[in-house]
Amino acid sequence: MQRPPPRKSRHERHRRPRSDPRYSVPKDKLKVVLLENVHANAIEALQQDGYTQIVTRPKALQGEELVELLHDAHFVGIRSRTHLTEAVLERAPKLVAIGAFCIGTNQIDLRAAMLRGIPVFNAPFSNTRSVAELVLAETILLMRGIPQKNALQHRGGWDKSAAGSHEVRGKTLGIVGYGHIGTQIGVLAEQLGMRVVYYDIEAKLPLGNARQLPTLEAVLHASDVVTLHVPETPQTQNMIGTLELSQMKTGAHLINASRGTVVDIDALTDALKRKHLAGAAIDVFPVEPQGNDARFESPLVGLDNVLLTPHIGGSTAEAQANIGLEVAAKLLRYSNNGSTVSAVNFPEVTLPEQNGRCRLLHIHRNVPGMMARINERFSEAGINIAAQYLRTNDEVGYVVIDVDSEAQRVAYEGLCNIAGTIRCRMLY
Ligand code: NAI
Repeated sequence: MQRPPPRKSRHERHRRPRSDPRYSVPKDKLKVVLLENVHANAIEALQQDGYTQIVTRPKALQGEELVELLHDAHFVGIRSRTHLTEAVLERAPKLVAIGAFCIGTNQIDLRAAMLRGIPVFNAPFSNTRSVAELVLAETILLMRGIPQKNALQHRGGWDKSAAGSHEVRGKTLGIVGYGHIGTQIGVLAEQLGMRVVYYDIEAKLPLGNARQLPTLEAVLHASDVVTLHVPETPQTQNMIGTLELSQMKTGAHLINASRGTVVDIDALTDALKRKHLAGAAIDVFPVEPQGNDARFESPLVGLDNVLLTPHIGGSTAEAQANIGLEVAAKLLRYSNNGSTVSAVNFPEVTLPEQNGRCRLLHIHRNVPGMMARINERFSEAGINIAAQYLRTNDEVGYVVIDVDSEAQRVAYEGLCNIAGTIRCRMLY
């Protein structure tokens, strides 16, 4: 007599093919790809958390080489040179999240990632202190006239004189854009005895003794050194042009380590040549060379009283290490707990610990009736929802549901089968 096939366990009955991107994968089976020499801190953090399948490459990849490496990857970490286009994402069906181990995210098709249920995390503030320190140093160097003395001496000259050389103590620093970097600089500058004034389009809480002035013009009038820390927006395009430069004190200095488009470089060159401004320190330019071999060109080249730096305001070993830790922590939090706080392209959900419950993560198209359908599944199956968190944007919704663990598998399958589901994960 032929025996009936052995009855499958409950677990086996519900097991899904590994290739289905909607289904969860145990943590130790998650493949992490880290490109472009992502800092060792990140690798350590992931390993310590139990992620063993980490593939690293020292350089950016592109084309088939990139696609091949990502076809079974769950996480990818890149810096600025790897382009994650829609075509690449399309062929990375298991990708759960992207870590941009840098500040900018232009190299990633953020919408294409979002529509595939893939949050992108970056490290917007890891290099704040590095920029602040450089600006502080430049403030001192400019006030002492060091750039021109240095240039002259390299040509064999000698200018031992106190003329045009000042302490920063008691002078006024004007900060335009009092955000993360601006506030740090304000605090540090006060410790050197500077007076700090600032202009921001928002009302910002002054730190220390800093004072918010009502207009940009008021800050330009009041300051011995003006430093710019605004983002690149239509409003900040050529924010400092001929008019604004003329509103600065004669003999004042300008520092720009924000974005190249904020300053009209021709107008600045003119103000420096006319000696209306005594000096400038410029780290960012409207057009920057594409790589280290490309040639830098600017009307500012050859002006001794201008400190030129190649967009390195935030480039320090410490910033790189911080970036490694910050982005790895965000990837781990999302992978382990579902939190999308500070994702750049995704509804942000802050989540508490799971407390022994099973957590279901459901990413869906933001269409009418979705939440009703989700809740229907739970009530039909008689599953008690212990906690539910929802955030949506115009196109996608992200709901996180905590249930008792005995109900996890049924609840999970119910959720995965709802029309409009982009991705479903289960954490337990
Ligand atoms: P943030 O977003 O924390 O602060 C920007 C501030 O500017 C905010 O307080 C905002 O309200 C204000 N703001 C926006 N538009 C304004 C306007 N039209 N007028 C006056 N204030 C305005 O930004 P964070 O992190 O302080 O960065 C500032 C800039 O520094 C950004 O442009 C960023 O790209 C740049 N940056 C440059 C680096 C470098 O290597 N040189 C490194 C890191 C950042």
